[in-house]
Amino acid sequence: MNLDPFHATFGYDCYHFRPHDLAAPSRSRGTIINNRLIFGTLFVSFFFYSAYVYTVGTEAAHVPPMSDEARRGQQVFQKYNCIACHQFYGLGGYMGPDLTNVISNRGEAYAGAFIAAGTASMPNLGLSPDETSDVVSYLGFVDTTGTYPPKNYEVTWFGWVTQEDDPQ
Ligand code: HEC
Repeated sequence: MNLDPFHATFGYDCYHFRPHDLAAPSRSRGTIINNRLIFGTLFVSFFFYSAYVYTVGTEAAHVPPMSDEARRGQQVFQKYNCIACHQFYGLGGYMGPDLTNVISNRGEAYAGAFIAAGTASMPNLGLSPDETSDVVSYLGFVDTTGTYPPKNYEVTWFGWVTQEDDPQ
């Protein structure tokens, strides 16, 4: 048994130095198994965490498919260039208000009346009753895609940020 404390700590004898002692002291079998166990555990955890993030974390929001009416409404929206004055998600012209959630905030009847009649600052663009109801249905579709401005964030215990009031 070697009782030299230097030997016990560093694995070689400081009094009888030999060049090959410069090589890293050989690790014991226990240390190697320990390292493999740590690496293996981290690897497996990372694998499962990645699988979880890529499947659950990137799940698309359950937005209902766009109806034919809403599709036609989108054409109407483009034809009359509503975006020249309005915004979706804060993007667009800045003369009128953001329309992302106008249906859940104000209702279909309110939006329809506004579009059909106009006001002092919003022109009556002369939409037909069909065009009006189509564009209202398009606004209803846009409303289901999310919330603007974003609010009610929740940070989960594993660091994800979710928006409570967004469609899930
Ligand atoms: C020339 C600019 C302009 C255009 C083009 C325009 N709007 Fe507007 N819109 C406004 C303004 C300004 C208001 C706010 C009017 C008010 O409060 O009196 C408004 C208000 C509205 C509102 C009510 C929003 C709220 O939160 O009160 C809706 C809905 C709306 N517009 C839809 C449309 C649609 C759909 C189109 C296209 C067919 C359109 N607008 C085209 C300027 C415009």
